[in-house]
Amino acid sequence: MQQVDERVAERPRFAHESEAEFARLLNFYGIRWEYERRSFPLRVAPDGTVLEAFTPDFYLPDLDTYVELTTLRQSLVTQKNRKVRRLRELYPGIKVLLLYRRDYQALLAKYGYGSAGLESIGDIDRVLITAADLERRVEELGLQISKDYRGRDPLLVGVLKGVSCFLADLMRCISLHVTIDYMALSSYRRNGDEVVQIVKDLDEEIAGRDVIIVEDIVDTGMSLLYLLNELRSRGPASLEVCALLDRRARRITDAPIKYVGFEIPDVFVVGYGLDYRQRYRNLPFIATLKPQALQ
Ligand code: IMP
Ligand code: MG
Repeated sequence: MQQVDERVAERPRFAHESEAEFARLLNFYGIRWEYERRSFPLRVAPDGTVLEAFTPDFYLPDLDTYVELTTLRQSLVTQKNRKVRRLRELYPGIKVLLLYRRDYQALLAKYGYGSAGLESIGDIDRVLITAADLERRVEELGLQISKDYRGRDPLLVGVLKGVSCFLADLMRCISLHVTIDYMALSSYRRNGDEVVQIVKDLDEEIAGRDVIIVEDIVDTGMSLLYLLNELRSRGPASLEVCALLDRRARRITDAPIKYVGFEIPDVFVVGYGLDYRQRYRNLPFIATLKPQALQ
């Protein structure tokens, strides 16, 4: 399980404000980077002295790519173009990009952040779990489930609608014959008590099956507890829970969760399937909203 804390962004000393801006963009989208990671000798004297070297501004480990930002000065652009060309000749295995300001967005789009992120950017307070972190962790959960259920055909029961992204990704990381089914619950207050009911039931019979309930987030645990009792009464061979997020601070039941993606602090989150008033489900990361967006 991974603990999600406040991220403290490293702030190296940037040579230009545009580099600091680019670093902020990368941070916002959760793309890992290193500043001036490596110098490449371009011209070396016979005695080994480096006469000319090139140090690209950024290295993006997830893309295995170096990035050089260009300034607006045409004289420098020409010089940088020459250096990048020379670097490619001398180091053919190294990927290097020369980025103009207008290329920023193109790079980010290529990395998979799409238009949803851009539409909602103004409402987002902080990216709590990046797309890359989600991908890595979901893959780990899939591997673990594949190992634990070897030789069996588990039935994944997704709880609508928040689980959409998680279930879609998780099942593709499980190397077994899985089947999937969905349930929808609603909860309302009756005489001061929280009452949970089934709005959409399973299509599948679960008696004798190995069932894994897949949840987006377990908060108070009320809906999960209800679901566990309900499904247990149908006689499955086994019944476990896999939750992407665990907000333990607000738990009022002790529903057992076997697989947890991330433990998160006591903040409301959206994205990767989770909504606020049906919005923000299509964000590729888990984020908190600014107070003015939570009206
Ligand atoms: P519980 O019964 O209190 O555990 O409620 C869990 C359900 O409430 C989850 O399956 C979500 O659908 C919803 N929920 C709880 N916390 C959040 C949140 O921070 N963002 C979006 N939905 C949430
Ligand atoms: Mg839910």
